[in-house]
Amino acid sequence: MSAELKSVQQQLKTLRQQIELYNYQYYVLNDPSVPDAEFDCLFRALQQMEQQYPHLITPESPTQRIGAAPVKAFAQVQHNTPMLSLNNAFDEDEVKAFDRRVSEGLAGLTANPIEYAVEPKFDGLAVTLRYENGLFKTGATRGDGYTGEDITHNLRTIKVIPLTLPVEKAPGFLEVRGEVLMLKADFIQLNKEQLQKGEKPFANPRNAAAGSLRQLDAAITATRRLMFFAYGIAPNRDALTPQDTHSAIMAYLARLRFPIARECAVVQGSAGLIAYYSSIAAQRERLPYDIDGVVYKVNALAQQEELGFVARAPRFALAHKFPAQEAMTRLLDIDVQVGRTGALTPVARLEPVFVGGVTVTNATLHNADEISRKDVRIGDTVIVRRAGDVIPEVVSVVLAQRPAQTRRFVMPDHCPACGARAVRPEGETVARCTGGLFCPAQRKQALLHFASRRAMDIEGLGEKLVNQLVDNAIVRTPADLYTLGITALANLARMAEKSAGNILAAIEKSKQTTLARFIYALGIRNVGEATAKDLARHFGSLDRLMDASMENLLQVRDIGPIIAQSIVDFFAEHHNREVIERLRASDVSWEESIGTASEPASINAISGKTFVLTGTLPNMTREDAKAQIEQLGGKVTGSVSKKTDYVIAGSDPGSKYEKAVNLGITILDETGLKNLLQTI
Ligand code: IVH
Repeated sequence: MSAELKSVQQQLKTLRQQIELYNYQYYVLNDPSVPDAEFDCLFRALQQMEQQYPHLITPESPTQRIGAAPVKAFAQVQHNTPMLSLNNAFDEDEVKAFDRRVSEGLAGLTANPIEYAVEPKFDGLAVTLRYENGLFKTGATRGDGYTGEDITHNLRTIKVIPLTLPVEKAPGFLEVRGEVLMLKADFIQLNKEQLQKGEKPFANPRNAAAGSLRQLDAAITATRRLMFFAYGIAPNRDALTPQDTHSAIMAYLARLRFPIARECAVVQGSAGLIAYYSSIAAQRERLPYDIDGVVYKVNALAQQEELGFVARAPRFALAHKFPAQEAMTRLLDIDVQVGRTGALTPVARLEPVFVGGVTVTNATLHNADEISRKDVRIGDTVIVRRAGDVIPEVVSVVLAQRPAQTRRFVMPDHCPACGARAVRPEGETVARCTGGLFCPAQRKQALLHFASRRAMDIEGLGEKLVNQLVDNAIVRTPADLYTLGITALANLARMAEKSAGNILAAIEKSKQTTLARFIYALGIRNVGEATAKDLARHFGSLDRLMDASMENLLQVRDIGPIIAQSIVDFFAEHHNREVIERLRASDVSWEESIGTASEPASINAISGKTFVLTGTLPNMTREDAKAQIEQLGGKVTGSVSKKTDYVIAGSDPGSKYEKAVNLGITILDETGLKNLLQTI
């Protein structure tokens, strides 16, 4: 080889390594070290050089991730080591039984408690990646566990999957096992694009990942943002791979630049397993990807080997699954519920069904359009979904099980609670009762909102009590709560004197509140908690807010004409002013201030600025950061827009981070935020 060619080859190698490193920093660590433009520039330099020397192109070059021709069908691949399944557990007893079986299986070989490596159970698709001498060769699906499909071309397009292992000495053979999935944020984005293109949205991130991965044309896969997480390797005797523990293998995989879950941990005994399950269950909604449980693995590889397998699952591992989030049941009837602002919501009455850890008997059907779209009829068998704390919803109908006799639902044209006319303005999906506060249903909802934790926080004033108070005409407006006497309360059914006393004490306690809470408690349409805080900060006093014109209101950050109009309308209502006066006369009070509207513009670097928090901060919880920012007059919102002033990014920040980069918004880490807080 000529000296020139050698030097070109060296340059190509350096360029490729540099690009792979930047890729890793960007996609795996979420911590880019160079601007996009610099990356693009390097990438183009590599492309140009490869064009000049096409015979020096290798399949592992980062330019070769995309470009394979579509295939007619996937080839079959035999797995060298079968891809087995895991035994499942659904409760603590089953976990304890597993730990006991493991201890018994290892009796005499080890002391209790057993050490376990624990990790999330990803809800994606299992794949295996074969590396030979450090180069990615073949990738396949799990298939039936013994034979899978060759999806190498598609896997190559996933940028977090290394094409070359970045170590001096790589094992001669290494098979990395893990899961391909789509991050929740990317799924939402993809579905938006599908709808814009007039194509069908995917039902969930798992389906989207599966649909993207099983494309005969890898060019389509390349347009989808897929993620991969490694969770192990096929047993390997190569001295270069760790031979002692599973956790050491995970650390090794991280060194090879495979993404591994940040939540991987090592715990002791069944108590450690159960504590880990609870901690992950509590974080589940906040994780950037879907999981359906956690996985426990005996950490010591020698112990794993000793325990071996039963049928198609290892004795040394267990999947502790979260309760199902979707279930099938029968729709018995559809009722119409009246909300605080009069919105009429059709609610499905269901045959009780256990889903996501609780028994569900009601689920929302959203509105009449949704019912038609899903063609839901009374008598149908339906799929119900419950995600986190969200109200359960009817997802779809199981048409195959539709009985001969079903009934279509018709949205009533009168409010079922007060009989007032229901109207549905042109272009809106929601029908509303026009009865206002004369409608007992709206009145009850308004009271419940007024008393709720984030509003006036009156403990014990729940649905049952409010129903009784309104139905017996004891309470009509929030102001009536403050004139309640012990006799009126204690006379109610199921109300002992002691609990009546507790309620009165809670009502008394709520009198001392904040302006923001009070504004929020009023239940002004379109005024949520964040807007209430903005209004309190801006005006500083309730009278100034009540007298504000449209023009004044539009000067408040983030308040547009719709919210401003709702506020003006609310205070124009004589009845609302009267209730407020009665509340003040009952000593409901808060501290007032001069408000930022009357202050000179921006008195510090935080006041009046909008912040977005993303990712996990190393030493502060998000709640802490939010509270500190708000205390100094800043505002914390959930999404990045042109109006955002700062994005505070922790680890694994996700798509908000990219959006901030694209919009050129200042991005700070925890230290940056602390510095900013300290300047004030
Ligand atoms: S270990 C011997 N770890 O669960 C089995 N599997 O039932 C080794 N899965 O489809 C599997 N997250 O793809 C393991 N952290 C994790 C996992 C995990 C998800 C999937 C796996 C397979 C199924 C096994």
